[in-house]
Amino acid sequence: MAKDNGKSGLSRILTLEIARVTEAAAVAAARMRGRGDEVAADQTAVDAMRRELNRLPVTGRVVIGEGERDEAPMLFIGEEVGTREGPKVDIAVDPLEGTTICAKSLPNALAVIAMAEDGTLLHAPDIYMDKIAIGPGYPDGLVDLDASATDNLNALAKAKGVPLAEITACILDRPRHGKLIEDVRATGAAIRLIGDGDIAGVIHTTEPDETGIDIYMGIGGAPEGVLAAAALRCIGGQMQARLYPMNDQHRERAVAVGVEDIDRKYVMEELASGDVIFSATGVTDGSMLDGVKFSPRAIETETVVMRAATQTVRWIRTEHRTPDKFD
Ligand code: FBP
Repeated sequence: MAKDNGKSGLSRILTLEIARVTEAAAVAAARMRGRGDEVAADQTAVDAMRRELNRLPVTGRVVIGEGERDEAPMLFIGEEVGTREGPKVDIAVDPLEGTTICAKSLPNALAVIAMAEDGTLLHAPDIYMDKIAIGPGYPDGLVDLDASATDNLNALAKAKGVPLAEITACILDRPRHGKLIEDVRATGAAIRLIGDGDIAGVIHTTEPDETGIDIYMGIGGAPEGVLAAAALRCIGGQMQARLYPMNDQHRERAVAVGVEDIDRKYVMEELASGDVIFSATGVTDGSMLDGVKFSPRAIETETVVMRAATQTVRWIRTEHRTPDKFD
């Protein structure tokens, strides 16, 4: 692994290169905003992301992607990407996080990627995962996936020094969360119910003053869980998670990617253990990032890139004045 700044881990030049990858996917997806076609929006983002990934000076292997080779023509798990002239890296992609929100032109659709040292990202199967996350500044183990919602929210309110009524939990609006929502409301805490997009939901806990969200709770995608953990490794915070199979097929998928103990509770550092770089570009406007803007002068994108080894967080607003580079 290149060591170019006294910190072990990934070459820091990649932190700028990686932004191009999510920018390209976001611009492609943004052209499909509001067209009601989730599959086409996702496919165009995948194509664009793959094109840019193959320009990166890495020997990359997709460990979290669009599915198995036979069901995903591109960015499938195990696919090799990059110029193959650089370091070996694990790659986790979600070229369009929030396919439905993009198709409906609603807020918070993102293009997302994480790149990590070889062998350091959990190979999460494409099944559900139960997650809990809070931002930085709290004692380790303050909240626990196995504790009740009441205990977790009480502990968080106490540590933050506010009444429960001033705590907000972010939860995906799904029938499976009926009991969780009831339990949270019974404490007096508020809930931000989101239609989709729990990577952003987790990241929002890191800036509660900006986003109004203190804690993320509930069941979402496992791939999104690893990507969210990669982001938290860079900005700080705590996260715990456990795979949540709904049926035997899900259990088989977990075995197929090498999961030995499906009941294992993972902490953030086990979901993403080495140096990791995370990049997200807004597709639609959201509370974290602005979406892509098209004008006769330029295409504008907003991207956040972060790196675990240095905890650097870069907000990059880019004017692409030669838009045909995306064709
Ligand atoms: P997609 O972009 O793949 O549609 O994922 C959106 C999302 O909301 C994720 O953020 C979340 O983890 C997952 O779907 C939840 O799955 P489900 O919609 O099946 O509840």
